[in-house]
Parts: sequence; C-alpha cells; structure tokens
Amino acid sequence: MVSTLLPAAAGFALGLQSLESERRIEALPVEGTLPPWLSGTLLRNGPARFEVGRDNYRHWFDGLAMLHRFTFAAGGVSYANRFLRSKRFAAAERAGHIVGGEFGTVAQLTFADRLRAPFGNGLTDNANVNIVPFRDGYLALTETPGPVAFDGETLETRGTAKYDDALSAPLMTAHTHHDPARRATFNVVIEMGRKSRYSVVRIPDGTLRRTVIASIAVDEPAYLHAFSTTARYVIIAEYPLVVRPLDLLFGRKPFIENYRWKPDRATRFHVVDKDTGASAGVYETAAFFAFHHINAYDDGAAVVIDICAYDDHAIISDFTLDRLRAGAGVSRPSVRRYRLIPGRSAAEVETISEVSLELPRVAPLREAGPYRFAYGFAGAAERPEFSDRIVKVDLASGSVSSWSQTRSYPGEPVFVARPGGTDEDDGVLLSVVLDAAAGSSYVVVLDARTLEECARAAVPHHIPFGFHGIFR
Ligand SMILES: [Fe+2]
Repeated sequence: MVSTLLPAAAGFALGLQSLESERRIEALPVEGTLPPWLSGTLLRNGPARFEVGRDNYRHWFDGLAMLHRFTFAAGGVSYANRFLRSKRFAAAERAGHIVGGEFGTVAQLTFADRLRAPFGNGLTDNANVNIVPFRDGYLALTETPGPVAFDGETLETRGTAKYDDALSAPLMTAHTHHDPARRATFNVVIEMGRKSRYSVVRIPDGTLRRTVIASIAVDEPAYLHAFSTTARYVIIAEYPLVVRPLDLLFGRKPFIENYRWKPDRATRFHVVDKDTGASAGVYETAAFFAFHHINAYDDGAAVVIDICAYDDHAIISDFTLDRLRAGAGVSRPSVRRYRLIPGRSAAEVETISEVSLELPRVAPLREAGPYRFAYGFAGAAERPEFSDRIVKVDLASGSVSSWSQTRSYPGEPVFVARPGGTDEDDGVLLSVVLDAAAGSSYVVVLDARTLEECARAAVPHHIPFGFHGIFR
C-alpha cells in the first residue's frame, strides 16, 4: 500500500503517498475525552492516488479524489473512506493510465485528440478540493463546473452533475460562499474565449441554476482559487498570474503552467454588489498571490479582506510532488489585511502576522462579518515542511498560539461551535493529523479557546494530505 519513502523528508512524504484501501470502521479507538456535545460528521476531501499504471501525477493538486468521513456520536467516532468515482477516475481505471489533464499534469494526447477535446481531453471532474451540502447529500467540487454528487453516509458517488443553465465557462472556483439570508450560493466563473470575463453567479439553494449577476471583461484572465464575500459584496482579488485563453485551449503544457506572472500589473480587487451586480469599486495594490481569502467584512468605513498572501506565485511549483516529497521547502505566506476605502483607488495593506497560515478557517457564524480569530495550519520557519502545527491567529492583536506534536502534520482545522456558546472561539477544532512515526493518521479534537487537545481517534492507515472539508 505504501511504497518506498524518500529519505529527505520521510515522515512528511508519507502524506503524499497513495492510499488504496477503502474501509468502514464502526468504532475507532479514542484517546482522551470527546466533548459530550460533539455530534455530527466531519467530511474531508483530497487526493489519495498519485499514479495510474506507470503514469505519475506531478502536482499535489492532481491526485484522484478520496472522501473521508469521521462521525462523532454517543462518545464514539466511526470512519469511512472511499474514492470519488468521477468520470475521470473511472476512465483512468479502465485505461490503466492517466487519461486527461489535471492542474499540474498533462495527459499524453495527440494533436487530433486536442482538436476533438480541448482542455486536455475535456474538463476534469476529479473533484478533490472541497465539499458542500446539496439536497439530501453533498457535492464534491474542483475548479471546473462538474460537481460530483455523493452520499454523506456511505460516501458512494451518485454521479457528475450538470449545471442547469446555458453558461459556458470552463473554470469555476471550488470555494463557494453560501448566503443564508439570500438563500443562495455565490461563486465566480471564468469564461474563456475571444471575449473572456469573470462572472459572479448566484445559485438558489437546492438548484444548480447559475444566474450571472455581474461580468468583468478581461483579456488575460487570472488564476483564481477563491474569493470572499461580505454581507453586501462579492470581492474578487485578481492576481497578476494570467493566461492567454488560446494557450489553455490548445496548449501542450499542464493547465497551470500556461499562466504567466506579470507583477507589473499589480493585484486588483473588484468589489461587486450582491443584489444589483453594480461595481462598488476597483482597488489596486502591489502584486501578490494567494489561494485563500480568510474572511471579509464591511466595517462601515471600508471593506476589510484578510488573505493568506504570498509575495509571488512560486508556491504553485513548490507544491509539485517531487519537490514536496524531497522536503525542498515551500514559500511562506503571511496574514495580510487589505482595506478598500470608497473613493480611493489604492488598497491599504497591513501585515497582521508573519505566521505562515494556510487552509484558513473561521467560525461559520462569523463568515462574511466582523470576526477576531482565524485558524489554519502552518510550518515552522526553520523546517522545510509546510505544515507541522495548527495555529490560531488573534487578528485584533496579531498574537499566535499553536498546537503541535513530534513528526506530526495536521491538515485544515474545521471549527465546530459549542451549541449555546456565544464567544467566537467557544468550540473545538477538528483536524486530520498524519503521525509519521506511527505511519497512520488520526482526527484530533482541540479546544479552540486554548488549543489544548481534548481527544484523538486513529485510523489504521495514513491519510494523504487533503484540502478542505465540512462539519455537519
Ligand atoms: Fe482551497
């Protein structure tokens, strides 16, 4: 199951090895004391197979998706994991090799194949990035408009869904924002062609019908992984990592390698009114790159956006698998706050913390509103691995607290509020941690106020490093 490990970062590299087994375990061994109120399911998504036959995926973002479920009930924890049976997964299994392009991997296709099927044999539905609730189940998402439906209990795949509209856009973020007051989800799609544009879409709850509420024309679209919302606005950060659409359609490079870093263009924030679609301003700042916005809100005087910001786009190639497995080190983001003040064209910027926070989460009830705490993982400055601790950043003071264990590598921490609690950090963090010494992973439950460990529950295998998940 686990092939030979590379010596340079053997512990960490285990998190980038394939996991083939699919299991269902009714009671995991629990150490510590689970909060008696903790009841529900943590669903996680991420890559778990990094090769097909003799072909190897090249980038962390490319591996075939696997779902994991940790269900907390009656003081115990059950677990299941299953590969997502996307069309891409099934075709690869049938063929015995990689059958289409992914984020950082190009499939070996003939020119005729490309003419028949641009975008490297069609858009991938290997939805390994995120999970959102949908009707009586869930959708697994990636950065293409082909969400894959699955059952939240059995993790069985129900099939790749289609959007119920005529919008033709090859790219759509996996970081949707649900707006309970408007009973709709907001997202940003990127239309590519002779005329390209970023379009803000609104999707009524329970549907897959996207209504375009605003479009921003662009010659060379930027790579966008996420965006943010406030109660009133959608905010797109447009980094100067841009592509000529024709290069994407017919290029022979992996998807992301068609993009070029043009720092002279600066980074622009586009602010769009959620209801009218009107522009509420375009703001510029010095070039930076990010995958993740932490949160955003209006404070009366400005739109405030917190971001895990990198000086440039080097982090993308830092995440190629050979570099990560060799422990080559990764670029470090910092926590930056941008303030967009109406009437000014320049964004104000402040570095709140130099901690290398990634996969950021906030308390769900504080999303799109004023808040104080961000949670995520981070790596120590003196070590090459990018994730060796869970951190909590107090955005009011800039202070950082952390939780870590020897040779252990946590993933995204998901905040779960204590029922009846009113303090923002009254709850727990759930994170899947790779224990390299044990060669396996566990889910840890931390008190979000203190980051003290309450409990952990181990599975019998390692869980490859994943991306995002939800608790319900
Ligand atoms: Fe993400």
